Amino acid sequence: MDLNDFEKWVYHEYNINLSAYKSNQLHRRIQSLMSRVGAGSVDEYIQMLKKSPEQKQKFLDFITINVSEFFRNPELFDELKNEIQFDLLPKNNNLNIWSAACSIGAEPYSLAMMINSINSGGNHSILATDIDNTILEKAKKAEYIYSEIKNVRAEYLNKYFVKNDDKYFVIDKIKNMVTFKKHDLILDSYQSNFDLIVCRNVVIYFNQDIKEKIYQKFSNSLKKGGLLFVGATESIYNYKDYSFEKASTFIYKKI
Ligand SMILES: C[S@@+](CC[C@H](N)C(=O)[O-])C[C@H]1O[C@@H](n2cnc3c(N)ncnc32)[C@H](O)[C@@H]1O
Repeated sequence: MDLNDFEKWVYHEYNINLSAYKSNQLHRRIQSLMSRVGAGSVDEYIQMLKKSPEQKQKFLDFITINVSEFFRNPELFDELKNEIQFDLLPKNNNLNIWSAACSIGAEPYSLAMMINSINSGGNHSILATDIDNTILEKAKKAEYIYSEIKNVRAEYLNKYFVKNDDKYFVIDKIKNMVTFKKHDLILDSYQSNFDLIVCRNVVIYFNQDIKEKIYQKFSNSLKKGGLLFVGATESIYNYKDYSFEKASTFIYKKI
């Protein structure tokens, strides 16, 4: 078996479509993981995955790359705050938001804090999804360490977290604005009618074809005038192809 066969096996066993990921990068990463866990061949690695739930979890964690933090690229969150405050909120007091590939929940909770700080009276809902059930369980607990909250301004830290020993807990008012759900951006269908979709630091792992399909589906899922906020290395050069105009470097508006 080679790594292409391995991809087929993973799809069959775990229902994860690895062919959507950038192939060279993915193969290099899998090879390095295999050597780290002491598997000499793909066949040997598959046997390890079949026998050991721990190895399976390690593989899934490795594939999904869960690194995240609150207000990742704070200056870009400031731009988003402006767009929400001066473009979205004047038109609508019930924003419908999707944080896609939300990882540990830092992203949807950052959005909830930001929105609560400018419009605490609104009835806003944030859907937060990820392919990884384990990380969604962590997200629901809303319990963080300093490195994950280091970008949070003192004002938000005091208002929206409770500190206990060296842990930071998000308060219920913010937790209640967010609903977590498992969702695969490649295989699952998308909900619609969103005012804002935030999808950051995940499409960089996907190949061009999948990326284009995802942007088109995001566009379809947004209301007219709705916004898409992407990661700091994820500018969409052909944004017009998806009926977007540029609101700022990393924010696109559906026209
Ligand atoms: C690097 S984290 C990004 C988290 C957050 N958006 C941020 O920018 O800080 C990437 C997340 O994408 C998720 N992911 C990977 N493949 C996915 C897929 N096909 N569908 C949905 N989520 C996926 C991973 O589980 C992981 O939590």
